[in-house]
Amino acid sequence: MTRIPVQSSAPGKAILFGEHAVVYGEPAIAVPVTQVEATATVTPAAPGRGLTLIAVDLDQSFSLVKGPQDAPLVVAARLTLDHVSAPVPDATLTVESSIPIASGLGSGAAVSTALVRALASFVGVPLTAAEVSGLVYEVEKIHHGTPSGIDNTVIAYGRPTYFVRGAAAGPELLSVGAPFRLLIADTGVPSPTKRVVDQVRKGWEREPDRYGALFERIGGVAREGRRRIEAGDVDALGPLMDENQSLLVDLGVSSPRLDVLIEVARSAGAAGAKLAGAGQGGNMLALVRPEMLDEVAAALERAGAVRTIRTDVT
Ligand code: PMV
Repeated sequence: MTRIPVQSSAPGKAILFGEHAVVYGEPAIAVPVTQVEATATVTPAAPGRGLTLIAVDLDQSFSLVKGPQDAPLVVAARLTLDHVSAPVPDATLTVESSIPIASGLGSGAAVSTALVRALASFVGVPLTAAEVSGLVYEVEKIHHGTPSGIDNTVIAYGRPTYFVRGAAAGPELLSVGAPFRLLIADTGVPSPTKRVVDQVRKGWEREPDRYGALFERIGGVAREGRRRIEAGDVDALGPLMDENQSLLVDLGVSSPRLDVLIEVARSAGAAGAKLAGAGQGGNMLALVRPEMLDEVAAALERAGAVRTIRTDVT
């Protein structure tokens, strides 16, 4: 059968409220970050060549059949072909991403999302967002064992999402009452999610009451965040981000570099700021009025942010 090349992409993501507590059943809110993205391109190969997977950024190339069977790209491709009951196509699948790795912006989930979508389309069975999200969740388990599912969900749906782990009704896509702008800044310190999630779990096992109370308060912040986002009460979101940050500090997942960037953003005029994702490195995000963006971004860069990204939540 002659097939035509297919390309799919997937955005990065940032967690606005509720990281870590979401692993323990509390709600969280995440938004897509479309200024960075992963893309997957599938092109036909000569008959009998099988499927070759190329990760451009990692300078790696695998054959689906002969490659390490636990490599995330191989797992994602196998799960997709099994899900759509398609034989292994003769093709080359290339993934590329502008999303920094291990920095809380969902690079792993975005690469898997782009791959799953492109491969399914290539074999003629385009998938729904729910199907893509479910398959990517399985791949995410390799990255960090007990993912809440928020990354694959917000990235596969590509919309601001209110997420509760295991909710029977599935994810709730938010309608944003008034658009607002976020400035994301990278500490440049990679922080593997699994390590930080494991550390929080150990803390919770040691001090279940204290951690349990922090998770509940973070969940309360996320619920209130939802109300304010839907009501278009943008001014009230900044203080809520600050409150979330101080609870994350109590959980032990901030870091001196994050603390500095968060403080610099606030002093330069951000309405609120917090770490984003697992923490102990990676990115922070700040709520910034449009007229203050240049000033806050410049202050963050002077303070050592390796890059800043501006994104609108709409
Ligand atoms: O570092 P990230 O963006 O993958 O953040 C993970 C968010 C956590 O709540 C810390 C873990 C999870 O599975 O939700």
